[in-house]
Amino acid sequence: MKRIAKLSTLSVLVLIMVFVAACGKSGNNNNNASPSPKASEAAAAPAAESAAASESSQPADKKVVLGFAQVGAESGWRSANTKSIQESAATAGFDLKFSDAQQKQENQIKAIRSYIQQKVDVIAFSPVVESGWDTVLKEAKEAGIPVILTDRAVDSEDTSLYKTFIGSDFVEEGRKAGQWLVDQYKDASGEVNIVELQGTTGSAPANDRKSGFLDVITSNPNLKIIASQTGDFTRAKGKEVMQAFLQANKKIDVLYAHNDDMALGAIQAIEAAGLKPGVDIKIISVDGVHDGIQAASEGKINFIVECNPLLGPQLMTAVNDVLAGKDIPLRIVTEEGTFTSEQALAALPNRQY
Ligand code: AHR
Repeated sequence: MKRIAKLSTLSVLVLIMVFVAACGKSGNNNNNASPSPKASEAAAAPAAESAAASESSQPADKKVVLGFAQVGAESGWRSANTKSIQESAATAGFDLKFSDAQQKQENQIKAIRSYIQQKVDVIAFSPVVESGWDTVLKEAKEAGIPVILTDRAVDSEDTSLYKTFIGSDFVEEGRKAGQWLVDQYKDASGEVNIVELQGTTGSAPANDRKSGFLDVITSNPNLKIIASQTGDFTRAKGKEVMQAFLQANKKIDVLYAHNDDMALGAIQAIEAAGLKPGVDIKIISVDGVHDGIQAASEGKINFIVECNPLLGPQLMTAVNDVLAGKDIPLRIVTEEGTFTSEQALAALPNRQY
């Protein structure tokens, strides 16, 4: 009898447990049918919803894997940018997969595809040129891998293909360069002949630094660009093209170089031609890397528009925010200054890159 009583007490307990479990389930179903305040908040704020998803899909002990496709190693600016990204990734504790495209778009596309295959958590890259990215960016989107642009923009109309673009305002840089020139030559009565060393053809900084500069200098009809050619952002090409400019043009008053490295190469050509850079030919450049600042402090470059390469910390913050599902601005603009020769002299001892 005792055994039967024990068994029936057990059966009742089991029945109670099954009932409670069933109620619990039907409670969840009810939530689905008629959202609780929490569920409807999540529906209204998809970013918050995906934050929860990414937090749970990223185990605490798993390192964030970041694939970064770099342009190349064409300039002092680029070396400083690479160092900043590598050091910041290490500080953030990320597993960084880094590739150098040697200034070729096809290499960058290959690198991005390989990051997609490896299922990295986030892809970041600095596009060599502006056009031709839609296909590979769609592939990343379909694979559910967020993309962050750093330094240079793409011209894709579909901005959902990337989460944000962190970097300088290159048009503004060109405008600052132009404004300095306009101010210097405001009283000029004759023609001022300008030669321009452009950055890599089709790249955002080359396109934008040219258009910003032109926008401003057209206010003074005396300012004339008499020759303009790419120097591919390198010292060697800057020297080579400047040599050709000097041979083809008797009177050059100003050189506008889209970066310091090309200006530094051009300075070698100007000196080899027996002329004084910064005096016989005024020089304006962009970047503000150590060697450029040094040349400016010596009076060989007259004006530098700063372009900040230290984008690593901002990139790592953006990666964490994207993975946490936070809403981040589609455009994050870097703040930058300018240097006259006097300012370069003062800045030189503390210039880190
Ligand atoms: O995209 C930034 C530009 O690229 C820098 O001004 C130049 O030096 C670099 O190579």
